[in-house]
Amino acid sequence: MQDIKQQLIGDLKSATTAEQVEQLRVNYLGRKGIITTLAKNTDFSKFSPEEKKEFGQKLNELKNFATEQIGAAVEQSRSLGEKSSKREIDLTAPGAGHRLGSLHPITMTQMELEDIFQGMGFSVLYGPEVESEYFCFEALNIPPDHPARDMQDTFWLKNHLILRTHTSANQVRTLKRFGAPVRAIFPGRCFRYEAVDPSHENTFYQCEGLMVDKNISVANLIAVMKTILSEVFRKEVKVRLRPGFFPFVEPGFELDLQCLLCGGKGCPTCGDGWIELIPCGLVHPEVLRHGGIDPHEYSGFAFGIGLTRLAMMKYGIHDIRHLNSGDLRFNEQFAPML
Ligand code: DAH
Repeated sequence: MQDIKQQLIGDLKSATTAEQVEQLRVNYLGRKGIITTLAKNTDFSKFSPEEKKEFGQKLNELKNFATEQIGAAVEQSRSLGEKSSKREIDLTAPGAGHRLGSLHPITMTQMELEDIFQGMGFSVLYGPEVESEYFCFEALNIPPDHPARDMQDTFWLKNHLILRTHTSANQVRTLKRFGAPVRAIFPGRCFRYEAVDPSHENTFYQCEGLMVDKNISVANLIAVMKTILSEVFRKEVKVRLRPGFFPFVEPGFELDLQCLLCGGKGCPTCGDGWIELIPCGLVHPEVLRHGGIDPHEYSGFAFGIGLTRLAMMKYGIHDIRHLNSGDLRFNEQFAPML
């Protein structure tokens, strides 16, 4: 029995796989196994009753020992087997491809504008989308009974705050906070109570710009606008100013871009050769005063780029409703090739 025990210990050391351990169990404890047949092959006739008893006890001990040790080896080989099968990598299997996201066309247009303006020394600032009536209207020279409010009806919250109707709301915020001189753009989301159709949305983007310094004139405004637009469209552009009314600028203009498709001759896209693009003007003295700036010392210009409109022109998008559709297939079309 001692020999069998030693032999078993040796065999257990060299059995590594589950199959080998199972074979050991059969060899030792199976119906025809070494331990099972030990009693059968022993001639008890020569044993005294005490010797028989001792033999029985020893045999039981050996059986228990073998059962325990082999049982433990089975467990071990199983968990090893599981681990190694988990670690197995099939290098020839096709990968689980990751889907790359893509930037929204408005985001791409915004990032491009931010880059260009930063190159000209403008800061990029972001104001709140939930705004007070004061910054959105009053500070911009639009009192409660002013007809200009009709064109910018919006969503009113229960606490009397509103969803901003234009990024111009950042003008007085910025003047109050940074004073003059200042040069900044404010890209962001705006909201209006609009009936949605191919060219109107209740949620859209603008990029406001503001420059206040000493001796700022319309010439500075035109120069900055021309430079920016040439960069955006990647070619020299022609612009013209027409008078336009906005309560927070004086004088106020509509800046038109000479049509890039027909070169100004007139075509179905532009009509008369010009595309109405950016409302702008010289900052109204009242607005400067609201910002704590002395209009006798400083002057400035402001402009409001329709970011959504610009993105639609740049990427040839004909229906504004695609932009907020959340359809990834729409976005992906505009992703630059990697
Ligand atoms: N905030 C105006 C709008 O949303 C656009 C605008 C007009 C902005 C003239 C300006 C400006 O800065 O000078 O309709």
